Amino acid sequence: MNDLEQKLFDLAVAHLKDAYAPYSKFHVGAALMTASGKIILGVNIENSSYGATNCAERTALFSWVNQGLTNDPIKCLLITGNTDRPISPCGICRQVMTEFMAPDTPVILTNVKGDFIRSTVDRLIPYHFTEDDLAAGTNK
Ligand code: THU
Repeated sequence: MNDLEQKLFDLAVAHLKDAYAPYSKFHVGAALMTASGKIILGVNIENSSYGATNCAERTALFSWVNQGLTNDPIKCLLITGNTDRPISPCGICRQVMTEFMAPDTPVILTNVKGDFIRSTVDRLIPYHFTEDDLAAGTNK
């Protein structure tokens, strides 16, 4: 990992303890950095109605929106968990990444052991749904 990735990794690992995961007991942490250097963290937040659960990477992305940072582009997103292989983000999170991150933005998949895969948004979710598809199909 390079220096930025290592910094995001250390913060995401340290944040794992804050995951709210009483049902799965599976803690996930995420950390993103913006162009201006701001760092936003996220953890998974579960619910007794399991479908209402929010993944760690979505928590970080929604927090970036909520903090009014949509004009400060995301330069890197890192995700970690106690998995054997570097963690694989779910399909919903991949779709949400496309909403807020440029296609070539690095997404670093890691596990707490430090194994990592450098991917990008477009490699994680090719042929994703977009606002153009929505506009083309809207009944007018
Ligand atoms: N989870 C994440 O937060 N991110 C991922 O990339 C994979 C899955 C969470 C959702 C749920 O709280 C738990 O992990 C088990 O699926």
